Amino acid sequence: MRLRRRTGATRALSAISGSRSGAQLSPSPTQLPPPTVSDARVYMRLALSATAVSKSGRGAGTIVATAAMGRKSSKAKEKKQKRLEERAAMDAVCAKVEAANKLDDPLEAFPFFKKYDRNGLNISIDCKRVSSLDQATVDWAFELTKTNMESLYEQSEWGWKDREKRDELTDDRAWYLIAWEEGPSPVAFIHFRFDVECGDEVLYCYEAQLEIKVRRKGLGKFLIQILQLMANSTQMKKVMLTVFKHNHGAYQFFREALQFEIDETSPSMSGCCGDDCSYEILSRRTKYGEGQSTHSSNHSGGCCH
Ligand SMILES: CC(C)(COP(=O)(O)OP(=O)(O)OC[C@H]1O[C@@H](n2cnc3c(N)ncnc32)[C@H](O)[C@@H]1OP(=O)(O)O)[C@@H](O)C(=O)NCCC(=O)NCCS
Repeated sequence: MRLRRRTGATRALSAISGSRSGAQLSPSPTQLPPPTVSDARVYMRLALSATAVSKSGRGAGTIVATAAMGRKSSKAKEKKQKRLEERAAMDAVCAKVEAANKLDDPLEAFPFFKKYDRNGLNISIDCKRVSSLDQATVDWAFELTKTNMESLYEQSEWGWKDREKRDELTDDRAWYLIAWEEGPSPVAFIHFRFDVECGDEVLYCYEAQLEIKVRRKGLGKFLIQILQLMANSTQMKKVMLTVFKHNHGAYQFFREALQFEIDETSPSMSGCCGDDCSYEILSRRTKYGEGQSTHSSNHSGGCCH
Protein backbone atom coordinates (compact mmCIF):
# COMPACT_ATOMS: atom_id res chain seq x y z
CA MET A 1 0.00 0.00 0.00
CA ARG A 2 1.09 3.52 -0.60
CA LEU A 3 0.09 6.54 1.38
CA ARG A 4 -0.23 9.82 -0.43
CA ARG A 5 2.73 11.68 0.88
CA ARG A 6 4.81 13.93 -1.30
CA THR A 7 8.47 14.74 -1.63
CA GLY A 8 10.06 17.55 -3.59
CA ALA A 9 10.44 15.62 -6.80
CA THR A 10 7.20 13.67 -6.59
CA ARG A 11 5.38 16.89 -5.78
CA ALA A 12 6.92 18.37 -8.90
CA LEU A 13 5.91 15.42 -11.05
CA SER A 14 2.45 15.32 -9.60
CA ALA A 15 1.94 19.05 -9.95
CA ILE A 16 2.71 18.77 -13.63
CA SER A 17 0.65 15.66 -14.24
CA GLY A 18 -2.30 16.40 -12.00
CA SER A 19 -1.51 12.99 -10.53
CA ARG A 20 -4.55 10.98 -9.60
CA SER A 21 -2.64 9.39 -6.74
CA GLY A 22 -2.82 12.56 -4.65
CA ALA A 23 -5.85 13.73 -2.75
CA GLN A 24 -4.57 17.30 -2.67
CA LEU A 25 -4.20 17.97 -6.36
CA SER A 26 -7.34 18.30 -8.36
CA PRO A 27 -6.58 18.80 -12.08
CA SER A 28 -7.38 15.64 -13.99
CA PRO A 29 -4.75 14.05 -16.23
CA THR A 30 -6.96 14.79 -19.18
CA GLN A 31 -6.49 18.51 -18.55
CA LEU A 32 -2.72 18.36 -18.40
CA PRO A 33 -0.04 16.57 -20.40
CA PRO A 34 1.46 13.40 -18.93
CA PRO A 35 4.35 13.94 -16.52
CA THR A 36 7.84 14.05 -17.87
CA VAL A 37 10.95 13.92 -15.78
CA SER A 38 12.34 16.89 -17.67
CA ASP A 39 9.32 18.91 -16.53
CA ALA A 40 10.11 17.80 -13.02
CA ARG A 41 13.67 19.00 -13.45
CA VAL A 42 12.43 22.48 -14.29
CA TYR A 43 10.23 22.48 -11.20
CA MET A 44 13.07 21.29 -9.03
CA ARG A 45 15.38 23.95 -10.40
CA LEU A 46 12.84 26.58 -9.55
CA ALA A 47 12.47 25.07 -6.10
CA LEU A 48 16.22 25.05 -5.56
CA SER A 49 16.55 28.68 -6.66
CA ALA A 50 13.64 29.71 -4.45
CA THR A 51 15.16 27.87 -1.49
CA ALA A 52 18.48 29.57 -2.03
CA VAL A 53 16.91 33.02 -2.17
CA SER A 54 14.76 32.48 0.90
CA LYS A 55 17.60 30.92 2.88
CA SER A 56 19.90 33.86 2.16
CA GLY A 57 17.20 36.21 3.41
CA ARG A 58 18.55 39.19 1.50
CA GLY A 59 17.81 41.18 -1.61
CA ALA A 60 20.43 42.84 -3.85
CA GLY A 61 20.11 46.23 -2.18
CA THR A 62 20.57 45.14 1.40
CA ILE A 63 24.28 44.43 1.43
CA VAL A 64 25.85 47.61 2.79
CA ALA A 65 29.07 46.92 4.67
CA THR A 66 31.97 46.99 2.24
CA ALA A 67 34.20 44.84 4.44
CA ALA A 68 31.53 42.18 4.56
CA MET A 69 31.05 42.25 0.80
CA GLY A 70 34.05 40.12 -0.10
CA ARG A 71 33.09 37.49 2.45
CA LYS A 72 29.51 37.52 1.32
CA SER A 73 30.36 37.30 -2.36
CA SER A 74 32.61 34.32 -1.76
CA LYS A 75 29.81 32.74 0.24
CA ALA A 76 27.44 33.49 -2.62
CA LYS A 77 29.84 31.80 -5.02
CA GLU A 78 30.00 28.75 -2.79
CA LYS A 79 26.22 28.63 -2.64
CA LYS A 80 25.95 28.98 -6.40
CA GLN A 81 28.46 26.19 -6.88
CA LYS A 82 26.51 24.01 -4.45
CA ARG A 83 23.29 24.73 -6.32
CA LEU A 84 24.90 23.77 -9.61
CA GLU A 85 26.12 20.51 -8.09
CA GLU A 86 22.68 19.81 -6.66
CA ARG A 87 21.08 20.42 -10.05
CA ALA A 88 23.53 18.13 -11.80
CA ALA A 89 22.90 15.42 -9.21
CA MET A 90 19.13 15.78 -9.57
CA ASP A 91 19.42 15.69 -13.36
CA ALA A 92 21.26 12.37 -13.02
CA VAL A 93 18.57 11.01 -10.69
CA CYS A 94 15.78 12.07 -13.04
CA ALA A 95 17.60 10.62 -16.04
CA LYS A 96 17.69 7.19 -14.38
CA VAL A 97 13.97 7.29 -13.54
CA GLU A 98 13.18 8.45 -17.07
CA ALA A 99 15.25 5.64 -18.58
CA ALA A 100 13.55 3.03 -16.38
CA ASN A 101 10.12 4.32 -17.37
CA LYS A 102 11.02 4.08 -21.04
CA LEU A 103 11.61 0.32 -20.88
CA ASP A 104 9.16 -1.89 -22.75
CA ASP A 105 9.40 -4.68 -20.21
CA PRO A 106 11.69 -4.39 -17.17
CA LEU A 107 11.23 -8.13 -16.61
CA GLU A 108 12.55 -9.08 -20.04
CA ALA A 109 16.11 -9.41 -18.74
CA PHE A 110 15.00 -12.09 -16.25
CA PRO A 111 13.17 -14.85 -18.18
CA PHE A 112 13.72 -17.30 -15.29
CA PHE A 113 11.43 -15.10 -13.18
CA LYS A 114 8.50 -15.30 -15.60
CA LYS A 115 7.42 -18.67 -14.16
CA TYR A 116 6.73 -19.82 -10.62
CA ASP A 117 6.28 -23.59 -10.37
CA ARG A 118 6.59 -24.36 -6.68
CA ASN A 119 4.47 -25.50 -3.76
CA GLY A 120 1.65 -26.69 -6.02
CA LEU A 121 1.44 -23.43 -7.97
CA ASN A 122 1.86 -23.14 -11.72
CA ILE A 123 2.11 -19.43 -12.32
CA SER A 124 3.16 -17.18 -15.22
CA ILE A 125 4.27 -13.66 -14.43
CA ASP A 126 4.29 -10.65 -16.71
CA CYS A 127 5.23 -7.02 -16.30
CA LYS A 128 3.14 -4.29 -17.91
CA ARG A 129 2.31 -0.64 -17.76
CA VAL A 130 -1.21 0.10 -16.55
CA SER A 131 -2.06 1.38 -20.04
CA SER A 132 -1.50 -2.17 -21.40
CA LEU A 133 -3.89 -3.85 -18.94
CA ASP A 134 -7.43 -4.65 -19.98
CA GLN A 135 -10.32 -3.25 -17.96
CA ALA A 136 -11.20 -6.66 -16.46
CA THR A 137 -7.70 -6.98 -14.99
CA VAL A 138 -7.79 -3.44 -13.59
CA ASP A 139 -11.19 -4.16 -12.02
CA TRP A 140 -9.90 -7.42 -10.55
CA ALA A 141 -6.86 -5.59 -9.07
CA PHE A 142 -9.11 -3.00 -7.47
CA GLU A 143 -11.51 -5.59 -6.02
CA LEU A 144 -8.67 -7.70 -4.62
CA THR A 145 -7.07 -4.64 -3.01
CA LYS A 146 -10.41 -3.63 -1.53
CA THR A 147 -11.06 -7.14 -0.18
CA ASN A 148 -7.59 -7.37 1.38
CA MET A 149 -7.12 -3.83 2.58
CA GLU A 150 -10.35 -1.94 3.23
CA SER A 151 -10.67 -2.83 6.91
CA LEU A 152 -6.97 -2.10 7.50
CA TYR A 153 -7.36 1.34 5.92
CA GLU A 154 -10.47 1.94 8.03
CA GLN A 155 -8.38 1.33 11.16
CA SER A 156 -5.90 4.02 10.10
CA GLU A 157 -6.00 7.82 9.98
CA TRP A 158 -6.68 7.45 6.25
CA GLY A 159 -9.96 5.63 5.92
CA TRP A 160 -10.86 3.86 2.71
CA LYS A 161 -12.03 5.67 -0.42
CA ASP A 162 -12.87 3.63 -3.54
CA ARG A 163 -12.25 6.56 -5.84
CA GLU A 164 -8.79 7.39 -4.47
CA LYS A 165 -7.62 3.79 -4.63
CA ARG A 166 -8.92 3.38 -8.18
CA ASP A 167 -7.17 6.58 -9.22
CA GLU A 168 -3.92 5.46 -7.61
CA LEU A 169 -4.08 2.05 -9.29
CA THR A 170 -4.68 3.61 -12.71
CA ASP A 171 -2.18 6.47 -12.51
CA ASP A 172 -0.25 6.79 -15.78
CA ARG A 173 3.03 5.99 -14.01
CA ALA A 174 1.82 2.65 -12.62
CA TRP A 175 3.63 -0.55 -13.57
CA TYR A 176 2.28 -4.00 -12.78
CA LEU A 177 3.64 -7.45 -12.15
CA ILE A 178 0.71 -9.82 -12.63
CA ALA A 179 0.75 -13.49 -11.64
CA TRP A 180 -1.56 -15.69 -13.73
CA GLU A 181 -2.77 -19.19 -13.02
CA GLU A 182 -3.59 -21.45 -15.94
CA GLY A 183 -6.89 -20.42 -17.43
CA PRO A 184 -5.55 -17.80 -17.49
CA SER A 185 -6.81 -16.04 -14.41
CA PRO A 186 -4.95 -13.46 -12.33
CA VAL A 187 -4.17 -14.47 -8.74
CA ALA A 188 -1.70 -11.86 -7.51
CA PHE A 189 -0.25 -8.50 -8.47
CA ILE A 190 2.31 -5.89 -7.55
CA HIS A 191 1.77 -2.24 -8.45
CA PHE A 192 5.07 -0.38 -8.55
CA ARG A 193 6.60 2.78 -9.92
CA PHE A 194 10.02 4.12 -10.79
CA ASP A 195 10.07 7.45 -9.04
CA VAL A 196 12.07 10.08 -7.19
CA GLU A 197 11.60 9.92 -3.44
CA CYS A 198 13.39 12.39 -1.17
CA GLY A 199 15.89 13.09 -3.92
CA ASP A 200 16.67 9.43 -4.58
CA GLU A 201 15.76 7.27 -7.54
CA VAL A 202 13.70 4.39 -6.18
CA LEU A 203 11.38 1.60 -7.14
CA TYR A 204 8.29 2.19 -4.98
CA CYS A 205 6.03 -0.79 -4.36
CA TYR A 206 2.50 0.63 -4.10
CA GLU A 207 0.66 -2.67 -3.68
CA ALA A 208 1.48 -6.33 -3.10
CA GLN A 209 -1.81 -8.24 -3.20
CA LEU A 210 -2.34 -12.00 -3.35
CA GLU A 211 -5.57 -13.96 -3.37
CA ILE A 212 -5.91 -16.08 -0.22
CA LYS A 213 -5.60 -19.38 -2.12
CA VAL A 214 -2.04 -18.58 -3.29
CA ARG A 215 -0.66 -17.19 -0.02
CA ARG A 216 2.08 -18.77 2.10
CA LYS A 217 3.49 -20.60 -0.92
CA GLY A 218 6.47 -18.34 -1.49
CA LEU A 219 4.86 -16.37 -4.33
CA GLY A 220 4.86 -13.04 -2.47
CA LYS A 221 8.55 -13.42 -1.69
CA PHE A 222 9.27 -14.34 -5.32
CA LEU A 223 7.45 -11.23 -6.61
CA ILE A 224 9.33 -8.93 -4.24
CA GLN A 225 12.60 -10.54 -5.33
CA ILE A 226 11.67 -9.59 -8.88
CA LEU A 227 11.22 -5.98 -7.75
CA GLN A 228 14.67 -6.07 -6.19
CA LEU A 229 16.17 -7.42 -9.44
CA MET A 230 14.45 -4.79 -11.56
CA ALA A 231 15.52 -2.03 -9.15
CA ASN A 232 19.13 -3.21 -9.47
CA SER A 233 19.02 -3.51 -13.23
CA THR A 234 17.58 0.02 -13.61
CA GLN A 235 20.08 1.46 -11.10
CA MET A 236 17.48 2.53 -8.56
CA LYS A 237 18.88 3.04 -5.06
CA LYS A 238 16.27 1.05 -3.19
CA VAL A 239 12.92 -0.67 -3.17
CA MET A 240 10.50 1.19 -0.90
CA LEU A 241 7.01 0.53 0.38
CA THR A 242 4.54 1.59 3.04
CA VAL A 243 3.00 -0.87 5.46
CA PHE A 244 0.43 -0.47 8.21
CA LYS A 245 1.83 -1.38 11.62
CA HIS A 246 -1.45 -3.19 12.35
CA ASN A 247 -1.11 -5.36 9.21
CA HIS A 248 0.86 -7.85 11.30
CA GLY A 249 1.25 -10.57 8.65
CA ALA A 250 2.54 -8.17 5.99
CA TYR A 251 4.74 -6.41 8.54
CA GLN A 252 6.38 -9.72 9.48
CA PHE A 253 6.67 -10.69 5.83
CA PHE A 254 8.58 -7.55 4.86
CA ARG A 255 10.57 -6.92 8.06
CA GLU A 256 11.51 -10.47 9.05
CA ALA A 257 11.24 -12.74 6.02
CA LEU A 258 12.45 -10.19 3.46
CA GLN A 259 14.71 -8.14 5.76
CA PHE A 260 13.35 -4.73 4.81
CA GLU A 261 14.54 -1.95 7.10
CA ILE A 262 12.61 0.97 8.50
CA ASP A 263 13.46 3.74 6.07
CA GLU A 264 15.03 6.95 7.34
CA THR A 265 12.04 8.83 5.94
CA SER A 266 9.57 6.79 7.99
CA PRO A 267 7.72 8.90 10.59
CA SER A 268 9.05 6.76 13.44
CA MET A 269 12.64 7.51 12.36
CA SER A 270 12.32 11.18 11.51
CA GLY A 271 10.44 12.11 14.66
CA CYS A 272 7.87 14.10 12.64
CA CYS A 273 4.75 12.26 13.79
CA GLY A 274 6.35 9.21 15.35
CA ASP A 275 4.19 6.78 17.26
CA ASP A 276 0.95 8.48 16.21
CA CYS A 277 1.33 7.23 12.66
CA SER A 278 -0.27 3.92 11.81
CA TYR A 279 2.30 3.07 9.14
CA GLU A 280 6.00 2.61 8.55
CA ILE A 281 7.97 3.22 5.39
CA LEU A 282 10.26 0.28 4.72
CA SER A 283 13.09 -0.09 2.25
CA ARG A 284 15.78 -2.40 0.99
CA ARG A 285 18.79 -0.98 -0.75
CA THR A 286 20.14 -2.15 -4.07
CA LYS A 287 23.84 -2.23 -4.82
CA TYR A 288 23.46 1.36 -6.11
CA GLY A 289 22.16 2.57 -2.75
CA GLU A 290 24.58 0.75 -0.50
CA GLY A 291 26.49 2.89 1.96
CA GLN A 292 24.48 6.01 1.19
CA SER A 293 22.40 8.13 3.45
CA THR A 294 18.75 8.29 2.40
CA HIS A 295 18.74 12.05 2.80
CA SER A 296 21.45 12.93 0.35
CA SER A 297 22.63 16.48 -0.06
CA ASN A 298 20.65 16.87 -3.27
CA HIS A 299 17.37 16.52 -1.47
CA SER A 300 15.44 19.65 -2.32
CA GLY A 301 12.14 18.99 -0.66
CA GLY A 302 12.75 19.61 3.06
CA CYS A 303 11.00 17.19 5.39
CA CYS A 304 9.75 14.23 3.43
CA HIS A 305 6.43 13.85 5.19
C1 LIG B 1 1.69 -10.17 2.59
C2 LIG B 1 1.68 -11.07 1.36
C3 LIG B 1 2.05 -10.22 0.13
C4 LIG B 1 2.73 -12.16 1.56
O1 LIG B 1 2.79 -13.00 0.42
P1 LIG B 1 2.85 -14.62 0.57
O2 LIG B 1 3.07 -15.20 -0.75
O3 LIG B 1 1.67 -15.07 1.33
O4 LIG B 1 4.15 -14.80 1.49
P2 LIG B 1 5.29 -15.92 1.31
O5 LIG B 1 4.67 -17.24 1.19
O6 LIG B 1 6.22 -15.49 0.24
O7 LIG B 1 5.98 -15.78 2.74
C5 LIG B 1 7.37 -15.78 2.95
C6 LIG B 1 7.59 -15.70 4.45
O8 LIG B 1 7.08 -14.44 4.95
C7 LIG B 1 6.49 -14.64 6.25
N1 LIG B 1 5.04 -14.40 6.18
C8 LIG B 1 4.26 -14.31 5.08
N2 LIG B 1 2.99 -14.08 5.42
C9 LIG B 1 2.95 -14.04 6.76
C10 LIG B 1 1.90 -13.84 7.71
N3 LIG B 1 0.64 -13.63 7.33
N4 LIG B 1 2.22 -13.87 9.01
C11 LIG B 1 3.48 -14.07 9.42
N5 LIG B 1 4.52 -14.27 8.57
C12 LIG B 1 4.27 -14.25 7.26
C13 LIG B 1 6.77 -16.10 6.61
O9 LIG B 1 8.03 -16.13 7.26
C14 LIG B 1 6.85 -16.75 5.24
O10 LIG B 1 7.61 -17.93 5.24
P3 LIG B 1 6.87 -19.33 5.65
O11 LIG B 1 5.57 -19.39 4.93
O12 LIG B 1 7.87 -20.36 5.20
O13 LIG B 1 6.69 -19.26 7.13
C15 LIG B 1 0.30 -11.75 1.15
O14 LIG B 1 0.00 -12.49 2.29
C16 LIG B 1 -0.86 -10.81 0.88
O15 LIG B 1 -1.15 -10.51 -0.27
N6 LIG B 1 -1.55 -10.34 1.94
C17 LIG B 1 -2.75 -9.53 1.82
C18 LIG B 1 -2.47 -8.16 1.27
C19 LIG B 1 -1.44 -7.40 2.08
O16 LIG B 1 -1.51 -7.24 3.28
N7 LIG B 1 -0.45 -6.87 1.33
C20 LIG B 1 0.64 -6.12 1.88
C21 LIG B 1 0.29 -4.68 1.86
S1 LIG B 1 1.65 -3.70 2.44
